[in-house]
Amino acid sequence: MKLWGGRFKEAENVLVNDFNSSIRFDQRMYKEDITGSLAHVKMLGKQGIIPKESAEKIAEGLSEILVRIENGAIEIDETAEDIHSFTEGILTYYIGEEGKKLHTGRSRNDQVTLDLRMYLKTAIQELIQNILELETVLYDKAAENIKTIMPGYTHMQKAQPITLSHHLLAYAEMFKRDIGRLKDSYKRTDEMPLGAGALATSTYPIDREFVAKELGFSKITLNSLDSVSDRDYVIETLSAISMIMMHLSRFSEEIILWCTNEFNFVELSDEYSTGSSIMPQKKNPDVAELIRGKTGRVYGDLTTILTVMKGIPLAYNKDMQEDKECIFDALDTVNLALKTFSGMIKTMKVNSDNMKKGAKGGFTNATDVADYLVKKGESFRNAHEISGKIVLYCIDHDMYIEDMSLDTFKTFSNLFAEDIYEAIDLVTCVKERKVIGGPSPDSVSNELNELKKFIEEN
Ligand code: ARG
Repeated sequence: MKLWGGRFKEAENVLVNDFNSSIRFDQRMYKEDITGSLAHVKMLGKQGIIPKESAEKIAEGLSEILVRIENGAIEIDETAEDIHSFTEGILTYYIGEEGKKLHTGRSRNDQVTLDLRMYLKTAIQELIQNILELETVLYDKAAENIKTIMPGYTHMQKAQPITLSHHLLAYAEMFKRDIGRLKDSYKRTDEMPLGAGALATSTYPIDREFVAKELGFSKITLNSLDSVSDRDYVIETLSAISMIMMHLSRFSEEIILWCTNEFNFVELSDEYSTGSSIMPQKKNPDVAELIRGKTGRVYGDLTTILTVMKGIPLAYNKDMQEDKECIFDALDTVNLALKTFSGMIKTMKVNSDNMKKGAKGGFTNATDVADYLVKKGESFRNAHEISGKIVLYCIDHDMYIEDMSLDTFKTFSNLFAEDIYEAIDLVTCVKERKVIGGPSPDSVSNELNELKKFIEEN
C-alpha cells in the first residue's frame, strides 16, 4: 500500500520501489513509530481533531499491532516503503477506515525524525551503560595493579616508570569524557519535533507540548523547517561514538603490542583469542585488531552523514533517509566493540614481572638521577647534563644506573651519596610521584575513588 497513490496514473517501477524503500533498516524503529503514533492519536482525540471514538479505536489497533509484531504474529513486509507506511497500512488493514485518520496533522517528515530521536534516546542510554561496564572492568583491573610497575613511554621509547593502574586509569578518563559527550548530545536529541508537519506545521489545533509530555521529551523543537531537516543530533551522537572508537582503538593497539613476544606484558585468555589455520603456535589478538579496524568503519559512518547533510537545502529532502544506516551501524559496532573489549580486559592475564623488567631497561630512572642532584642543590640543567653522561657511561658499559658503584657516581658529581640507590629504585620513582594525577599508589588510589564515584553517579 502506498501513502501517496492519488496523484499517480501508473505504478512505481519495481526497481524504484526497492531503491526508495527504507524498511530494510528503519524497521528497527517499529516500536518508536507505534509509540509515537499512540501519543499523536491521543492528542488528536483530546483536541477534537478526530472523534474520540476514532482515536480510541486507532490506539487499540496500534497497541495490538505492537504486541503482534513483538510476538512474531505480524511479520514486517520488506516491500513496504518504510516503517511508517507499513504501520499505517497494517492499522487500516486491521481496523478499517478509521485507520486512515491517524495521519491527520502529521507528515512522515516530522514522524521519521521523531522516531529516530526516540530510538537514539534509548540507544544513547544503553551505550552509556556499556561504557560504564567497561569502566567497572578498568576499575577492578586498576585496583589490582596499583603496585604493578611498568615503563611509561613517549615516542614509543621508554620514558619513566609508571604503574599499570595509572596506565589503565588514563583510558578510564577518556571513557568518562565519552559519557559526558553522549549526555550532551542526548540533551539535544531530547527535543520533540512532531507537529512540524511536512515543513510548515498544520492548520489543526494540535497540542505539541502534550505529545512531548506523553513521549517523555523534555522540550519541543521551535522551528518547523529546522525540525524536519535537523540531523545535528545524529551527527553529534555519531561523532561521540567515533571518539569512543578512537579510544578503544588506541587501547587495542596497546593490547596488541603488549601481547607480542617482544613485550609479553599481558596474555589474553583463550576465550578472547584466535588461532592460525597454518601456524600451530599462534594465539592472535583478533578482537583488538577488529576493534582497531572497525574504528575506520565508524569514521566512515560519520563521514557519510556529514557529507549527506552538507548540501541539503531546507527543508526535508530524501537524501536524509541516508541518516539511519550509518548511525545504526555505528551503534551496533560500538556496542559490540565495548562488550568484547570489556571481556578481553577482564580475562587478560598481567605478566607483572615482565612489566617490571621492561621498566628497569631503557634508563627510565635517569630523570630521578637528575632530580636527586637538584634536591641536593644542583641546577636542573646541570643535573640533566650529568645524568645524561651517566646514561652514556652505562650504555658503554652495558649496565643499569643503579648497578654503578658509589665511587663511580662520585666521578660524575660530589653530591652523590649512599641514598642515591634508594632514590632511583623504581618503587621509589613511582611512589614519590604523588602529585594529583601521578602514578604513585596514593595518587592512583584517589583517582580510583573518583572513578568509583563517577560509576555510581552515572
Ligand atoms: N523513509 C523516509 C526517511 O527515512 C521517511 C520520510 C519520507 N518522507 C517523504 N516525504 N518521502 O527519511
